[in-house]
Amino acid sequence: MSLQEEQIVTETAELVHEKLGSDRSGHDYQHIQRVVTMAKVIATNEADANKIDFFVVNMAAYLHDMADDKLNDDVKTAQERVREWLDQKHVPAGKQADILDIIQHMSFSDNLEHHYLLSLEGQIVQDADRLDAIGAVGIGRAFYYGGHHGDPIYDPEIKPRMHMTKEMYRSQSTVINHFQEKLLKLVDQLNTPTAKQIGAHRQKYMQDFLKEFKNEWEGNC
Ligand code: ADP
Ligand code: NI
Repeated sequence: MSLQEEQIVTETAELVHEKLGSDRSGHDYQHIQRVVTMAKVIATNEADANKIDFFVVNMAAYLHDMADDKLNDDVKTAQERVREWLDQKHVPAGKQADILDIIQHMSFSDNLEHHYLLSLEGQIVQDADRLDAIGAVGIGRAFYYGGHHGDPIYDPEIKPRMHMTKEMYRSQSTVINHFQEKLLKLVDQLNTPTAKQIGAHRQKYMQDFLKEFKNEWEGNC
């Protein structure tokens, strides 16, 4: 990254901190920072790391939740605000388009009904975001989200939904069902070799957790 690009990334981090710093729905600034860190790890490990635009990776990682439908009533306006920010910072049009393409199409819910082919930079940020939904942090976030939305922890009577539309994804379920409905599926959707390796470890950790949980629930240990 050039010095000027580094400066834009720093200012963007401050903007995102202002907007998401107080979020309590699981999209807080700490989540953003973990995604930025993980995206850098994945990008650096890529075989053709020299072909990756680290500015686009950093910017998309910082901005990826700024126009999310859960945090904004009006997604189009939120996207427009991101575009204005990039304009104001004199980000070249091509890079603006690259960043916006990623943040508009990388979410799990956006890929439920059709698969969108992201750029390599996009695949890296998507992997970093998905890795943050699995493993120990992912388990913590799922319970946090469930509490925030008033979902039950578990109810054996409520069965997981195996095929979901975007609308169904936003309707209520249980936290434990969320593992079957989404979290355990993410590992197969990771794009890069580094993320797949990290994902495999986190997958095993979640499976062990679920086994323990069900055992305890049934009074087996
Ligand atoms: P995306 O940004 O890909 O649309 P979300 O924003 O819906 O994904 O998910 C954000 C976090 O909240 C993730 O860690 C996810 O696992 C968790 N989460 C989303 N929906 C639920 C749910 N119904 N129950 C528990 N956790 C959830
Ligand atoms: Ni995210």
